[in-house]
This record gives sequence, structure tokens and C-alpha cells, in this order.
Amino acid sequence: MFKSINILAIETSCDDTSIAVLKNKKILSNLISTQEIHLDYGGVVPELAAREHIKGIIGLIEKALEEAQTTMEEIDFLAVTKEPGLVGSLLVGNNTAETLGRIFKKPVIKINHLIGHVYANFENTEPKFPFISLLVSGGHSQIIEFTNYFESKIIHETEDDAIGECYDKVAKMLNLGYPGGPIIDKLAQKAENKVKYPMPKINLEKNFSFSGLKTHVANIINQANMKNEKIKVNDLLNNFQQAAIEQLLTKLSQSIENKQYKQILICGGVSANSYLREQITLRYSMHNIIMPKISLTTDNAAMIGLAAYYKIVKETNATN
Ligand code: KG4
Ligand code: ZN
Repeated sequence: MFKSINILAIETSCDDTSIAVLKNKKILSNLISTQEIHLDYGGVVPELAAREHIKGIIGLIEKALEEAQTTMEEIDFLAVTKEPGLVGSLLVGNNTAETLGRIFKKPVIKINHLIGHVYANFENTEPKFPFISLLVSGGHSQIIEFTNYFESKIIHETEDDAIGECYDKVAKMLNLGYPGGPIIDKLAQKAENKVKYPMPKINLEKNFSFSGLKTHVANIINQANMKNEKIKVNDLLNNFQQAAIEQLLTKLSQSIENKQYKQILICGGVSANSYLREQITLRYSMHNIIMPKISLTTDNAAMIGLAAYYKIVKETNATN
């Protein structure tokens, strides 16, 4: 039985090293070190990502503990992202957690990265079952139903690219920088809507699919280049974004039809998108909608700590 639970959480599934310290669900620190090295390569290089994690992880743990005014001795549990992600990157996080666990005699809780994204929503609210979650990130586009803390079923997922990947690739076509999602989000808001770029129709029968949309945007850009025509970039991005988000909302609406979900959540990097947030708020105002705060949408260790907190409380019956 624990009076309160202090958790040190580690997230190294891709190219960000993140360390968080939580006291129960209260986030005392949540540091993210973004690896700039990949900018020169136009995408994440797995081998380099693992090496950068190794270089930075211990220093970041020290900083996160210091910011939380805590020491390793005061930590009760370590939490770490188990999967999915880049193998080498995950290995660095898991080895670090295991080693610290052995040295300081603390249990290590292994968390699925996607579950972490979902639990980013439960910092200030408790889960109520059944709930449904739209998980949209650089690697995943899924609608998941949760009937219990860690019992879930995927209702929709992508047949090809993830939506975040699609945003990133469209931004790359236009040389806008990486990651493309936040850049497109901002530029789409500046659209003058002088030119309407038609987008492909949504296939109501199928799962998510974003590669056709990406190719469609590539064709628009190529054709304009061939004809030496100037593209209204912000207008194009606005039309692209509306089509991409509409797909999410159409499938989400289909999924909640005739169902009694107690909560509707969004999570993952793309859940930071302002148009998605606006439309969710507008269209599902009759429902109990939960969105994580922006700092918890993209990859971070606090979400892993939150999922671990619920796992510890549910599996060991620890109380606050
Ligand atoms: O969850 P995340 O940090 O990493 C994965 O688990 O994949 O998500 C990263 C993705 C990137 O593709 C990024 O472009 C996208 O989230 N993203 C956004 C926004 N902020 C981040 N996409 C659209 N609008 C945003 N505001
Ligand atoms: Zn993620």
C-alpha cells in the first residue's frame, strides 16, 4: 500500500527523448529533448535516433528529477514505453529503466505507446467505460473502443499511411519543414479560399486511407509546376486539411452511431490540430468530449506515467 505513488517515466519510441516525474497523476516535470540531427536527412534515421537517446537520456533524467524536486530514492515505480516504435530507440529506454530498476530496487512498469497516448486524457478526469478514442499520430490512425482500463478493440484503422505521416509528406512536397502537421495547421488558417482544390471523396465502406489523398496533392503540385502555374499554398493546404480531418470525423460518427459511449477522446500528435479540435467540439457537443492538453498530444513521457499510474492502481490496489 502506497501513500502516494512517485513515478519516473521514460519515453524513447522514436526521435524524442522524454522523461517525466509524476506524483500520482500530478505531472511534476515532463521534459522532451528533440533530436535535431535528423533535420539534415529529411526523416528520422533509426540508428542515429538510438545513439542520440544514449547520449542524452541520463542527463535528462537528472534534470527531470531536479525540476520535480525529487530523487531516485523517492521514486516508487519506473515506467517505460515497451512498444511500438523504433527497435534501437525502445531498447535504450528499456535498458535504462531496467538498469535503474535494478540499482534502486524499483519495479518497472512497461506501457504500450498507444495506450500512453490514450491515457494522456486522464490527467484531470477519470476514465468512464465504455469510451471511444480517436488516436491520430505520425504512425497510427485508429478508432479504439475501451470497455475496461486496458481492454480495447480497434474499430477502424488506416489501410496505408497514418494521417500525421500524410501531413508530414504533404509539407515535404512543398518544402515547408518538419514536422509538417503544426506547419500546415497554421498555414491552413491563413487560407484566403480564392482557389478551391477538389479533394477525393471519402469511401464510407472502407477503413481510413490517406495515401490516395497524399498522391492527389502531389498531382496537383506536379501539374501546376508543369504548367508553370502558381499554387495558392494556404488554400491548397486548407482543402487538404479539411479532406483529411473529414475522413476522421466521418468514421468517428459512424463508430458512435447507436452506441452509448460515456466519453469520446482524441489523442496523438494530430489531436493538437486546431481544425480537428474545433470540429469535434462543434459536432459532438451533445457528448462528453475529452481532449488532452496540447503539451500531452505529441510524444511525451508524462502520458506513459499516467498510463502506468492507472496500471499500478488497478493491478496492485494501491491508494492515494
Ligand atoms: O504522437 P506523435 O508525437 O508521434 C507518433 O507517435 O507518431 O505524432 C507526431 C505527428 C506528426 O506527424 C506531426 O506532424 C503531427 O503529429 N502533428 C500535427 C499537429 N501537431 C503535430 N498534425 C496536425 N496538426 C497539428 N497541429
Ligand atoms: Zn506517439
